[in-house]
Parts: sequence; C-alpha cells; structure tokens
Amino acid sequence: MCSLLGWGFLCCLLLLFSSGVQGAPGTPSAAPEQVHLSYPGEPGSMTVTWTTWVPTRSEVQFGMQLAGHLPLRAQGTFSTFVDGGVLRRKFYIHRVTLRGLLPGAEYVYRCGSAQGWSRRFRFRALKNGVHWSPRLAVYGDLGADNPKALPRLRRDTLQGMYDAVLHVGDFAYNMDQDNARVGDRFMRLIEPVAASLPYMTCPGNHEERYNFSNYKARFSMPGDNEGLWYSWDLGPAHIISFSTEVYFFLHYGRHLVEKQFHWLESDLQKANKNRVARPWIITMGHRPMYCSNADLDDCTWHESKVRKGLHGKLFGLEDLFYKYGVDLQLWAHEHSYERLWPIYNYQVFNGSQETPYTHPRGPVHIITGSAGCEERLTPFALFPRPWSAVRVKEYGYTRLHIRNGTHVHIQQVSDDQDGKIVDDVWIVRPLHGRRMYL
Ligand SMILES: *[C@@H]1O[C@H](CO)[C@@H](O)[C@H](O)[C@H]1NC(C)=O
Ligand SMILES: *[C@@H]1O[C@H](CO)[C@@H](O)[C@H](O)[C@H]1NC(C)=O
Ligand SMILES: *[C@@H]1O[C@H](CO)[C@@H](O)[C@H](O)[C@H]1NC(C)=O
Ligand SMILES: [Fe+2]
Repeated sequence: MCSLLGWGFLCCLLLLFSSGVQGAPGTPSAAPEQVHLSYPGEPGSMTVTWTTWVPTRSEVQFGMQLAGHLPLRAQGTFSTFVDGGVLRRKFYIHRVTLRGLLPGAEYVYRCGSAQGWSRRFRFRALKNGVHWSPRLAVYGDLGADNPKALPRLRRDTLQGMYDAVLHVGDFAYNMDQDNARVGDRFMRLIEPVAASLPYMTCPGNHEERYNFSNYKARFSMPGDNEGLWYSWDLGPAHIISFSTEVYFFLHYGRHLVEKQFHWLESDLQKANKNRVARPWIITMGHRPMYCSNADLDDCTWHESKVRKGLHGKLFGLEDLFYKYGVDLQLWAHEHSYERLWPIYNYQVFNGSQETPYTHPRGPVHIITGSAGCEERLTPFALFPRPWSAVRVKEYGYTRLHIRNGTHVHIQQVSDDQDGKIVDDVWIVRPLHGRRMYL
C-alpha cells in the first residue's frame, strides 16, 4: 500500500520534472533558461533577458523580500531568433526592463510567464550618481569548455564582490557552433554570475558568424545598436564599449568602421563635457592595439589595424583615444594578462620614473583574455617590449575598483594560483585638466 502510494508520488514528480526539461527533444519548454542581466543605462533600471523554446509572454515578478510574495511586475517583449546553422534552430529571447529601482537596494526576481517560471535570483540595483566606488570583474575569452575563471567568479558574485561584469569579447567558442547549442550551453553556464550582475559585453572575433547574429540576439546592451557599440555611466566613470571587429570583417560592411569612429568621437566629446562629474573614461574593445604575445595577431604588428586604422591611416583609434584623454583601455583576445606603461605611439609616458601611474601622460592598457577557453593560454614573445610592464601567462581575470574621481585600483587574480593576486596597481590622475596628456 504504502509503497504503491510512494511510486505514484515519484512518477508524478518525474512527470513534473520532465515537462520542465530544457529543450528536451519533442517537448519544447516554456520554462525560462539562460537568465542574465544588463544595465540599460538609465539610473534605477535593469534589464532581464532569457530564452524559451516556445513563444510565451515576457514577465518579471520582483520584490525586496527574500521569501514569499513578489509584489512588483514588469512586462516586456520577446523576439524570435533563427540560428544560421543548417537546422535553423528557433528560439525566443525575452527582454524586460525593470524601472524605478531603489539605488543600491537588493531585489529578488523571477522571470517567465504563467506557462513556466525561472527560479528566483537576486541582484543589487546600481547606485546612482557619481559619489560611489564601483567594483567590476573584467575578462575576455571565456569558453563553454575550459572556463577556468568561472568557479571563482561565481563565488565572488555570491559574496557580493562586484557591481557589474565586463566581458571583453569572445564567448562560448562559439555561440553559433553546433547549431547554436554551444551558445545555449554557455549562457546556462554563466547564469549564476550573469543573473545576479549586469553582464556588459562587446563583440569579439568568435562572434562573427552570420554577421554576429548570436551576439546581437542574446545580449541586451544600452542604446539601439544591437550592442555593437554603446556607452554608459557608472559612478565616477564613463565606460565605452565598441567593436574592434569592424576593422577585420569588412565584408559585413566597410561603412561600419567609419560609422563607429564618428560615434566614438562624438561620445568622447560628450564625455569630456561631463568630465568634472565623471572624470574616468574607460574603453573596452576585444583586439588590443599593442601586445607582446608570440603569435601573428594584429597587435603584434607595428601598425596594428586597431591602433592605426585601415591601410595604416583610416580611422585608427590610438590618436582618437589620446586626443580625448581616455584613461584606461581594456582589451582581451590574447589569452594572457598584460599591463603596459602609459603609452602613446610606442613612447612610454610614465607619470614619473618612481610612480609611473601617478599622473600618467598617456593612456594605460590592460589586456585580460585569460578567463579560460578550449584554445588555452597564449605564450609571450621571449623578450618583453620596453612598453610592457607586467605579463602573466596564467588563467585568471581582472578586478577593477573605481575608487573615486582620482583613484582606480586594478588587480589580476590568478586561477592557476588559487586566487592569488598576481598584479596590483593604482592609477592616480588629478581632476584638473583631465583631458590633456601633455
Ligand atoms: C551586418 O550587420 C550590421 C549591423 O547590424 C549591418 O549594418 C550590416 O548591413 C550587416 N551586413 C550584412 C552584409 O548584412
Ligand atoms: C617607466 O617606469 C618604469 C617603472 O619605474 C621603468 O621601469 C621604465 O623604464 C619607465 N620608462 C620610461 C620610458 O621612463
Ligand atoms: C580617493 O581614494 C584614494 C584611495 O582610497 C584616497 O586616498 C583619496 O583620499 C580619495 N580621494 C577623495 C577625494 O576622496
Ligand atoms: Fe579573440
């Protein structure tokens, strides 16, 4: 008797479970998966993005109480994504923006519809204004296989160490692969981080297939440019994300190089008008201008495309970023960590010999692409260049603490050395005359 009842109960449970299984063959699921957050750029807001296998409504229920009723509701929309692979796999990507969030307050949410809800996640709304100290995790080149940095990033996230993540291009290796199933797997893998922190991105070369369609569809970045280039404000910083890939995949549109360049210039002009309030200008783009790795990548060439532009003269970014006094340039693509002395046109512009990063007279470059992927690490050239300050060929990621208007703290975490800090540096720039380097 008893055991019969027990079996019935178990069966029932099993049935319940199997109906919720993600994309199981023959049973498309309305249950949300691949939940992640992004900051749409307006204070007090946060966007939730997720995937379902059947079209459903797009709703987020949220509140400030850990358990029990979620009193607040926000609605959004979904778009249908059709992958470019032979199977033309189809899924539905939902976007809902929460507004009117209290700065710095913790929220609990779930997303979905009456046909299926996600589990509950937590996040903290970003603080408003300029007088606070944002903490970021920064890295590129994180794959679905060999994602070395993920376990520690998950732990850091649970402990509330960050306000946001900057993923500087190259995801999943690749999101389009296996008819975009690798993209699904990757997005599930990062969910424990990305469903709790705004996960801010830029495209890398591994996103290239079908004109970056997986990248454009899966992420929800500020602005109306499919996340290819955009900027946002965070405490005392203005952060600019852009695509180095427009310089390399010219068959998707040569005009994109020029279009982005003009956008960058006008965004930098605006940022400089607001520089008293937000002194730091930080850029992120996938392929570096400089690097001292032992490969044949663009950054190993004297006249790299990103630095000097097409044909060594059209729309190069080094002059532009120097002219507008960009403080910090974050890059990836090389699967290693490298920090440069303040640099412009191959000349080192230390603040002083003893404290090179105090009042630096040129932008500081950080290349952080060692979060872990199937391609493993990239070796360095035998002899470091005179402009290279620190090189670390270990898996890891960067912590960026924008302390206030004059001080930024950069640390490199090594996953090969159980979380040891293997680089630690402060950039100090005075508020006065911020834009000018000379
Ligand atoms: C690729 O995408 C960009 C931006 O979404 C678009 O402007 C361009 O026309 C596309 N190129 C092709 C060849 O479809
Ligand atoms: C910049 O500073 C570093 C550290 O003090 C030093 O090793 C390097 O030689 C300096 N470079 C120049 C060009 O002054
Ligand atoms: C900015 O932060 C640095 C490092 O914590 C500190 O020494 C400095 O006094 C701060 N400046 C202001 C204006 O608070
Ligand atoms: Fe790359």
